[in-house]
Amino acid sequence: MKLKLILKWTGATILLALILSFFAGFVGYWRSTNECDRKTALVNPMKAIVYCEYGSPDVLKFDDVEKPVPSDGQVLIKVRAASLNALDAYMIRDAWLNRLIFGLRKPRDTRLGRDVAGVVEAVGRNVTQFKPGDEVFGICRGSLAEYAVTSERALAMKPANVPFELAASLPLAGLTALQGLREGKIQPGEKVLINGATGGVGTFAVQIAKSLGAEVTAVCSTRNVDLVRSIGADHVIDYTKEDFTKSDQRYDVIFDNVANHSFAERHRVLNPKGICVLAGMGGAGVKGGEAIRRIVGNLFIARGLSSFTNQRFAQYMTKMSKQDLIMLGDLIQAGKLRPVIERTYKLSDAADALRYLDQGHARGKIVIAVE
Ligand SMILES: NC(=O)c1ccc[n+]([C@@H]2O[C@H](COP(=O)([O-])OP(=O)(O)OC[C@H]3O[C@@H](n4cnc5c(N)ncnc54)[C@H](OP(=O)(O)O)[C@@H]3O)[C@@H](O)[C@H]2O)c1
Repeated sequence: MKLKLILKWTGATILLALILSFFAGFVGYWRSTNECDRKTALVNPMKAIVYCEYGSPDVLKFDDVEKPVPSDGQVLIKVRAASLNALDAYMIRDAWLNRLIFGLRKPRDTRLGRDVAGVVEAVGRNVTQFKPGDEVFGICRGSLAEYAVTSERALAMKPANVPFELAASLPLAGLTALQGLREGKIQPGEKVLINGATGGVGTFAVQIAKSLGAEVTAVCSTRNVDLVRSIGADHVIDYTKEDFTKSDQRYDVIFDNVANHSFAERHRVLNPKGICVLAGMGGAGVKGGEAIRRIVGNLFIARGLSSFTNQRFAQYMTKMSKQDLIMLGDLIQAGKLRPVIERTYKLSDAADALRYLDQGHARGKIVIAVE
């Protein structure tokens, strides 16, 4: 009798929770909006790339928006260059995961671009490390614009001899390569394989792994074989001709930007105590169910697998680190790191730039120059 009552109450509670979440989801969906719906006169206009809806790069508009004002802890940057990342292509996509994270009906944040290099125009009153006129690079929200604001923690001084375009190519891809290779705990002389060696992250990873003394094998397509050799790869595997997971070669570290092989395949070519660093799930070209499958593998299966074997499948999120930004800037200044920039576009042509990146075969970085 008592059990029946408990079951009845549990059932009723679950039903109520379901009805409430459905209702909350419905309200959330219709209430989710963005600044494109609020038409107010602009006081201090500037040009920026804006997206009001999810979709293909066609949704990007070169439009007038309000120039940002820095808060107490922020720096206002006159943007001289920005660069695109796979993240920018993922964010605008019409995918249910995006809608859950970035806004159900429309993207809450309508501004695109993370990597920035430019000149400090103004600073908030709590900013101590920068002053107007300083040349900086780092990470912000909405770098595809004439001006952008960000926290002083997300910026570093641009080395004087490094052009804005090169500095703008560094932040997110450079930090991802540097921090991911740290996860791999590379020792000089170790055999490191970099899968996806010719994209934004890969071209930095090849060079940083070499500077750590590794013997680097780069995986890329036929047209990029010469490129990866030119940035220091010791061995190259052309994935259109050879599958690295089928060879007899074993690696101490696999830095995987692509995640297009099963865990069993990667387990087979890792040394018994090897580390597979799961940096990404393929360039901007990976879409739909395939993207979800790779994300789920990287996030969940990897963790479980590491507890059953001496090998480690390490997943990580790139963190903003001023120290690491400074280190990357120093490496470029010293000539030890050479950003590979395939194409440079004007701000007004950012949609074309993203369309190109979205095909998934960019060589190095795609940069946006802001006049
Ligand atoms: N962990 C983090 O916090 C973090 C942070 C930033 C980025 N990421 C991730 O890192 C990954 C790489 O980013 P990215 O900016 O380098 O992307 P990207 O520039 O779009 O990468 C494109 C590159 O992928 C290569 N590629 C495509 N299919 C391949 C295959 N089957 N085998 C080997 N290479 C292949 C292409 O080379 P070919 O033209 O030769 O095919 C191209 O050079 C993305 O998944 C991104 O989300 C992760």
